Amino acid sequence: MQGNSRSISTNQQDIHDKLPEIVLRHQRSVNQKPIQPHTEAAFQQISAWLATFEQRPVILDSCCGIGESTWRLAEQYPDALVIGIDKSAVRINKHGKQDEYQGTEKGQHADDSEVISGGSNYRVIRADVIDFWRLVRAANWPVTKHFLLYPNPYPKSAQVQKRWHASASLQDVLAIGGELTVRSNWQIYIEEFATALTLCAKSPRVSQVEQGVAITPFERKYWNSGQQSWQVNCSL
Ligand SMILES: C[S@@+](CC[C@H](N)C(=O)[O-])C[C@H]1O[C@@H](n2cnc3c(N)ncnc32)[C@H](O)[C@@H]1O
Repeated sequence: MQGNSRSISTNQQDIHDKLPEIVLRHQRSVNQKPIQPHTEAAFQQISAWLATFEQRPVILDSCCGIGESTWRLAEQYPDALVIGIDKSAVRINKHGKQDEYQGTEKGQHADDSEVISGGSNYRVIRADVIDFWRLVRAANWPVTKHFLLYPNPYPKSAQVQKRWHASASLQDVLAIGGELTVRSNWQIYIEEFATALTLCAKSPRVSQVEQGVAITPFERKYWNSGQQSWQVNCSL
């Protein structure tokens, strides 16, 4: 199948020159904004689900879209509890209804809940990761892996601070810990993420993603359009 996704259009040809200054500023500041009620509710609901298990490793699939990768990760890591998080109700409500993974358990949306039931070892929830990461950090969850697959790139130079590695949230991602994997079809995004991690005294590894079975709809769309993707992996 041929895709028709256009490659990234940007006025930025290299790592943003303000990136070091921005990352260092965030390292010195503390986020004191109140947590939004719907993310607090989602966190409480998913914490109650986690509490029904004996201590198990937790895998986060942040900005999971429709949660296809959440399901795939849950299959790949059956001993872990995998949580997919996305702020879009439209996206998470599509969970389990895509052709690509028909035959798996369908997502079921419990009434009054931000949580979509997945298989036995995963859930997909509606929450804003900016607040959710702060709650996970404070609760000290045993996160062993953290995936951030194809986050919105915000490719205009003026949008740099909207990228996760140039936001205040990077400090929460670092504190949560685990093995981080970030993928993008924009190489500069990945190089910038690696630069930000290095500035925070981490040792990231950048590589081109070998194309096989795509694990998310965006990945599939890019590869079907002849684009490459890159990733950064880092032990936090
Ligand atoms: C480009 S899509 C990628 C989705 C999926 N990972 C994939 O590869 O198919 C980016 C996703 O990030 C989600 N997102 C953006 N900001 C978010 C936030 N603050 N909290 C939670 N999700 C967010 C969007 O709703 C969207 O589903």
